[in-house]
Amino acid sequence: MSMLTLMLTLMLMMETETALTLDSAATAVVVTVAAALTLHWLYRLLFCPLLLLRRMQDVGYVAADHRSRAQVANEVRRRRKIGDLPPVYPNGWYRVLDSSRLERGEVQNVTALGEELAVFRGEDGKAHVLDAYCPHLGANLAVGGKVVGNCIECPFHGWQFRGQDGKCVRIPYAEKVPYFAKVRSWPSCEVNNQVLVWYHCDGAEPQWSVPEQTEVTTREWVYRGRTEHLINAHIQEIPENIGDFAHLNFLHTPGIFSGADLRYTDNKVVTFLQHSWKGEWKPESEPNSHCSQMFLTHCLTVFGLRLPLLDIYVEVRQVGPGLVSMMFHHRFLGRGLILQSVTPVEPLLQCVTHTIYYQSNIPAVVPKFILRAECVQFERDVMIWNNKKYISKPLLTKEDSTILKHRRWFSQFYSENSPRLQYQNNNLDF
Ligand code: FES
Ligand SMILES: [Fe+2]
Repeated sequence: MSMLTLMLTLMLMMETETALTLDSAATAVVVTVAAALTLHWLYRLLFCPLLLLRRMQDVGYVAADHRSRAQVANEVRRRRKIGDLPPVYPNGWYRVLDSSRLERGEVQNVTALGEELAVFRGEDGKAHVLDAYCPHLGANLAVGGKVVGNCIECPFHGWQFRGQDGKCVRIPYAEKVPYFAKVRSWPSCEVNNQVLVWYHCDGAEPQWSVPEQTEVTTREWVYRGRTEHLINAHIQEIPENIGDFAHLNFLHTPGIFSGADLRYTDNKVVTFLQHSWKGEWKPESEPNSHCSQMFLTHCLTVFGLRLPLLDIYVEVRQVGPGLVSMMFHHRFLGRGLILQSVTPVEPLLQCVTHTIYYQSNIPAVVPKFILRAECVQFERDVMIWNNKKYISKPLLTKEDSTILKHRRWFSQFYSENSPRLQYQNNNLDF
């Protein structure tokens, strides 16, 4: 009996020891994985650019009555009163792609201004924008098509179209290429690390060029991140925000820690932090009448106390209907630039990007935080835009007069043939 007890005791001790060894091995693995994840997270936080891509239903819609935000977004798109809208595609330059997304010999399919575009980079390094549908039998050149030299080859029967003018230069099985075989080629340029197209409803040539931001193109300032939003609104609503001073000191007053959901921005726990804004907007004169400027001072109050040392000065410049630069300056945090682009995807759907560049000697967390903060404030506007109606004759006070001035200035981008919305109820789902 005592022998049996001894054996059992020995076996138990061995098992316990094995279990203990396994336990400590598992703990070591967990600790190593946790440390690696923390290091990875820290590395990303400190050194990697910020990338925030928002789908339409991600921002500004409220899930309700067992309906998801996507369902609510679709319903709002169908049912919303759209108002007496201006034309939907103003004339001007629009961003279609970031240059970094287009390697030599690469093609991308982009939907912009209600059209399908094939954006590709030829072997000579130049970016081209052509209509995506092949005139032969309608295949999409950007889906399966190949870049051959400085042409794009259709994936269906191999016709090749020249990037510079869209002309067909080769049909692999035909003796002769008909002289009229071509696709529409869009005027395009590449500035500030973005590929841009010129849109004019009458096909007129570009009427101005897009200014280069030398801090970006000389790489003096470095890329620190990008946000992208799909917004359910008419394009004009977005730049008009600049002329709407009254909303700055209402919608954008709650501190950024109150978030972007307007139902909760008056959160009492975080009201110690408040923003206030002072600004002035004016159109520029010839030859830059397609530009306007705003000088903005952003102040921060903590527990009701204004801290002038935290003031940020922003010079906002709008170039045509779709491009904005925001140059900002802070006493300690240095200087940086946010480039905003607004490109209509379809009449009431805008793709808006914000890309930040910053002095290279300032740690990346600073511009990343600024971009995040800007994103919170911007998403408050998105919640308004996604649900509002366009009012062509708004009820305004004297203090709102800049809104009308801004509308007058913006109307220069419409011409007689600018397309208006053809409302197609069944086409609005996404
Ligand atoms: S559809 Fe493009 S070559 Fe035939
Ligand atoms: Fe705003």
